[in-house]
Amino acid sequence: MLPKGAQRDRVLKVVHDTSQEEVERVSRETGVPAADVYGAASFYTLISQPDAGARVCQGLSCRMAGSQELFADYLERGEPAIYASCIGQCDRAPAVLSPKMAVVSQRSAGAVSAANPELPMNLGGSDSLDYSALARSRELGGEGVLAALDASGLQGRGGAGFPAGRKWRAVLGETETERYVICNADEAEPGTFKDREVMLRRPHLLLEGLAICAETIGAKEVYLYIRGEFQEPIARLKAALAEVADGPLAGLNYHFVEGHGAYICGEETALLEAMEGRRGMPRIKPPYPTQEGFRGKPTVINNVETLACVPPIVLRGGEWFKGLGRTEAGTKLYCISGHVETPGVYELPLGVSLDELVAVAGGYVGEPVAFSPGGASSGFLPISERERALDFASLSEVGSMLGSAGVVVLNETFDLAEAACSQAIFFEDESCGQCAPCRIGTRLVHQALKGYLETRDPNALEHIEDLAWEMEEGSICGLGMVAALPLTSAIKHFPAAFSGGGQA
Ligand SMILES: Cc1cc2nc3c(=O)[nH]c(=O)nc-3n(C[C@H](O)[C@H](O)[C@H](O)COP(=O)(O)O)c2cc1C
Ligand code: SF4
Repeated sequence: MLPKGAQRDRVLKVVHDTSQEEVERVSRETGVPAADVYGAASFYTLISQPDAGARVCQGLSCRMAGSQELFADYLERGEPAIYASCIGQCDRAPAVLSPKMAVVSQRSAGAVSAANPELPMNLGGSDSLDYSALARSRELGGEGVLAALDASGLQGRGGAGFPAGRKWRAVLGETETERYVICNADEAEPGTFKDREVMLRRPHLLLEGLAICAETIGAKEVYLYIRGEFQEPIARLKAALAEVADGPLAGLNYHFVEGHGAYICGEETALLEAMEGRRGMPRIKPPYPTQEGFRGKPTVINNVETLACVPPIVLRGGEWFKGLGRTEAGTKLYCISGHVETPGVYELPLGVSLDELVAVAGGYVGEPVAFSPGGASSGFLPISERERALDFASLSEVGSMLGSAGVVVLNETFDLAEAACSQAIFFEDESCGQCAPCRIGTRLVHQALKGYLETRDPNALEHIEDLAWEMEEGSICGLGMVAALPLTSAIKHFPAAFSGGGQA
């Protein structure tokens, strides 16, 4: 297997060999200093590693399914390959992106809830071109749409759970009338692949949600920032747009912006930096994007799922949507992967338990030990929490979070220290490097875990709590704040896995 150091050197060589002339050309043509062009180009893996060969996913679910062995096979066959951070195909683990960005996997993707018109997303149903929610929103007027959103209790589905109605109202409250709407489709949190399915199966629902948002806040320009690894969803959305651009969406301008391979660009202010052509480094907030967003103008940034919830809310009413939830409002698209029979995306009342979710996904494989409820950022919980509501409030009570609802189940066959190490590698690779506690801290967490896995000496982990505190308190954005959580939560709930022996 290619050691990481050598792999990095090769990457740097690719940047150096292939882009110097390009950097100078772009600098000449744009007047942007070459250092800034180089800085931006080298930040994004799809630009800095254009000819890297196969990209073997090293997200947790793929690791659990044997991605390291798969990577070794590529190298043994003499085929170029590199590791990639999560490519959003956890239901097809282990998965690989071909050089042409096609997904390669032995497993078929896309298990979703069966068709049911009572479900707002209804991923198993068929997409509709009638745009009746948009027509209804025009009848209701801006205040009517906002009242429906408020009544629905819709919390943003991108991770933070911020009320959608409040965000739209904040933009409306700004005196500046040049406003923007951006759909955040950068989905790259390990364990998460729900937005992918919305874009593939219900592209019109998303386009319609964006149109309602734009008309409500008085924006003409609508942007979709989609991770570049999602070529199929991008094509599906563009085809859907072509069907209606001159019909119901006439008067609005939709723009597609492809991400270039940087998880941090899912953070809304890093996304804005990327859209404005710079390195995707989060901004200090406030000001919030609703005040100074894209090009300094008031901007709504919403997640794909949040926006896709809007048309059914407008059509059927906020109270209806709210009543679909168990402990919090609405249904939720839960992603589930790891040690379960049928990984996929299931639309269920917000607040179901892990046991209920796994029952829908065909049951556990093996003896479940732990789970990660909301992507890498949510750390690990013991299986004794299997009946806890998977919602925003209940998970935060136990130091975790619903986040993007990317649930990963681990059984007795997978070492918790290995699992924590997988997440540590992810955060180290994806830290933008802007602030020291995160840049240095993510490296130290990874090194500590590597040391522990090599020696099984608990002393390797002795300063972790202090380090985690420093990272949580001193980081600019959510990445650095939670990057030590997979390790600290695993130590807390599974002390035996970190005391020198094996799993508890
Ligand atoms: C490190 C990091 C990565 C994020 N990645 C995503 C993402 O891929 N997609 C997303 O919608 N939100 C992501 N978010 C949350 C966004 O910053 C933002 O809260 C969200 O897009 C707002 O949409 P919502 O209100 O509809 O949830 C991320 C946040 C952080 C801190
Ligand atoms: S916390 Fe990490 S990812 Fe976030 S701004 Fe700081 S260095 Fe970048």
